[in-house]
Amino acid sequence: MIPFLDLKSINLAYEQQLLEAFTRVLHSGWYIKGQEVSAFEKEFAAYCEVQHCIGVANGLDALSLIFEAYLLMGRLHQNDEVLVPANTYIASILAITRNGLKPLLIEPDELTYNINPALIEQQITPRTKAILAVHLYGRVAEMSQLRELATKHQLLLIEDAAQAQGALLNGKRTGNLGDAAGFSFYPGKNLGALGDAGAVTTNDPLLAEVITSIHNYGSKIKYENEFPGTNSRLDELQAAFLRVKLPDLDNANTYRSNIAEKYLRGIINPLIKLPAKPAMEMSNVWHLFPVRIQYNMRSAFIKYLNDHHIQTVIHYPVPPHKQKAYAAWNHLSFPLTEAIHEEVLSLPISNVMPDEMVQEVIRVCNQFVG
Ligand SMILES: Cc1ncc(COP(=O)(O)O)c(C=O)c1O
Repeated sequence: MIPFLDLKSINLAYEQQLLEAFTRVLHSGWYIKGQEVSAFEKEFAAYCEVQHCIGVANGLDALSLIFEAYLLMGRLHQNDEVLVPANTYIASILAITRNGLKPLLIEPDELTYNINPALIEQQITPRTKAILAVHLYGRVAEMSQLRELATKHQLLLIEDAAQAQGALLNGKRTGNLGDAAGFSFYPGKNLGALGDAGAVTTNDPLLAEVITSIHNYGSKIKYENEFPGTNSRLDELQAAFLRVKLPDLDNANTYRSNIAEKYLRGIINPLIKLPAKPAMEMSNVWHLFPVRIQYNMRSAFIKYLNDHHIQTVIHYPVPPHKQKAYAAWNHLSFPLTEAIHEEVLSLPISNVMPDEMVQEVIRVCNQFVG
């Protein structure tokens, strides 16, 4: 079987260093808010070339804490609107609604699948205060255009960088392309921990200070609580594991890009629509390689690939506005988002996938006749 994602092999490539990291933490006797987390925060901030990084429990919390902090700082108010792509993983939307803010869902661009900047201005109302740009599938959103819109309308510009660690736009990393960014280090991400983990990055010292406080019970000094905060900390073990893998992230992303290039060149089946080539090198770190196949053929394609021992995953089968969790929006119509959800399928891609497997995926895809 060609696995969709061979997490075990990905992590076993660092086995010795991960075991050493575990031993280091075990022997330190210090498991929360210690040296590993501080070191990772410094190292990830340096990698993103950003001034502040705060390790948190997961990617959803990272985004949610950004909104919560802006509310506490008076930069946002309850019921303010946040522009966000309709075509995203539900966590982007949950971070907004969890904080009593209102998402304004925007259709994606047909080629990039990311938020379409051309559709934003017509949705802006006096209550619109922020854009949450998602770098979906690893492809950097149209940040230059979004920055222009944000400046013109005085909107905060926040990145959901959960799927795009290390991606670059004009030489600048994700995490340093907006006012603040939320990262997930869920195990399957390009930089993945061995459990849940996340981080916020920002160049805003006040935002960093508030998040540093609220992710730890609203307290910077033990037992003194300045905000009604929460517990969303990155733990020492996950930070130590991430420190092992971070120095190799660029190599891992380059490896993924090489696979994506092979797919883009090799798959020539008119039934399979390939993702657009990235505009610049590393502006897509190929967290996923999503192809599109006509809606009525997708199940047959999945079965065909499975019969040929190729595992695939749909990202994602149901858009947020059609989920039970958001029943009040189920009547809304976002035709492009819905079409993408009905047609998309992710082919295997990872930094440990051998070339024979890549060639086999290409060969099998090219022989699909519908
Ligand atoms: C686009 C996007 N945003 C946010 C998240 C949330 O990250 P986590 O699973 O670490 O909470 C994910 C995770 O899968 C994601 O894909």
